[in-house]
Formats: sequence, C-alpha cells, structure tokens
Amino acid sequence: MHLLHLDSSIQGDASVSRTLSAAIVEQLRRSHGALELSYRDLGAQPLPHLTLPGFATPEATATLDAFLAADIVVIGAAMYNFGIPTQLKGWFDHILVSGKTFRYSERGVEGLAGGKRVLVALARGGHYADGPAAAMEHAETHLRAMLGFIGITQPEFVVAEGVAIGPNQRETAVASSLSRIALLPGDFAPAEFAH
Ligand SMILES: Cc1cc2nc3c(=O)[nH]c(=O)nc-3n(C[C@H](O)[C@H](O)[C@H](O)COP(=O)(O)O)c2cc1C
Repeated sequence: MHLLHLDSSIQGDASVSRTLSAAIVEQLRRSHGALELSYRDLGAQPLPHLTLPGFATPEATATLDAFLAADIVVIGAAMYNFGIPTQLKGWFDHILVSGKTFRYSERGVEGLAGGKRVLVALARGGHYADGPAAAMEHAETHLRAMLGFIGITQPEFVVAEGVAIGPNQRETAVASSLSRIALLPGDFAPAEFAH
C-alpha cells in the first residue's frame, strides 16, 4: 500500500497543518504496518505555475503519476487569504487532468480517482465552521470540490480552527485535532470525520 504525503504550509516548523498531517501519517503507519511512503513538500519546493507549455512536462507527468500510484493521500493544507496555498493549488493543477483523473461522458463529468483514501489536515486562523465568516471559507470548500470532481467524494477532514486567535486557542485546537487523529481508523472510513 502506497501513501503519498503532501505539505503546503509556508510556515515551516511553526505550521499547524504540518504537525497534523505528520500525525495522520504516523497514525496510519501504526495501523497499516507495511506502508510505502513518499513525501513532497510543496511549500519548500513548489511546482511551476500552470502554463500551456507546462502541460505534460516530465515534472508534471511525474507529479500526476505519483498521485495515481497512491492508495492513500494525506494533504497538509493551510488557509491563506481565505483559500488554499498557491503551492497546493499548483499541485491540483497538475492532478485534475482530463482522461486521467476525470472524463466527460454522456452522463456528465465522471471522476476516475475514486478508489483512493484522501485525508486532509486543514489549519485555519479564524473560525469558519459556522457563523458569519462561513461564507468566506474557500479552502475546505475548494478542496472538496476538486477532490469530488475527480471522484474522491468522501475525503476525511481534520480541521484545526481559530489557531491565529491566540496561543490558548491554538493549543486547544491542535490538541483536539490530535485526539481526533488518534481515533482515525486504519481502514478506509468514508464517513465525515471532522466537525
Ligand atoms: C499569509 C497568511 C495568510 C493567512 N490568511 C488567513 C485567512 O485568510 N483566514 C484565516 O482564518 N487565517 C489566515 N491565516 C492564518 C493561518 O490560517 C494559520 O496561521 C494556519 O495555522 C495556517 O496553517 P499552517 O500553520 O499550517 O501554515 C493566514 C496566515 C498567513 C501566514
């Protein structure tokens, strides 16, 4: 079984999403035993922006192939400016490829990557789960839209919210997320995990 682990935070060791994505990988390693791991730090080594000549370059093909080869994908995602880091969007730009991860048919769009388990560790500075700011949440919603488009309709989200409000809020949110991660089942659990 192959696990692809991605991080996208620009905040290095201070990153909440990196802490949580690493904890998810550790939890899955404990349950699975023999997991083949590959890691990509999109924050430190971003992919080039999508351009027409950038389609199907060796780097773009290798990025897509690494995703296609993965049984499990763990994504560390930060909320920056109400959305996902540009580096993570750049990775998705190489993953949403017609004929590879989705296709248009008479029945509409058909996702082709549905067999994968995808877990997302998302860190947000403020609170968006409910209340007036909910309409400004374009990180989780964007990730769910892109993943759903390619057939991953039940990604498992672990969300740490309010981490920029103060040290106490950050500590509480991280501890709560780590407790959720400790309960993550080894087997694919498509039911909603976060919130
Ligand atoms: C450049 C930047 C932009 C941010 N924009 C937002 C934002 O729009 N909304 C929000 O709630 N938090 C925002 N934050 C706070 C981050 O969501 C918070 O620091 C979170 O921990 C980011 O994940 P990370 O720690 O893995 O980098 C921003 C932080 C940075 C550094």
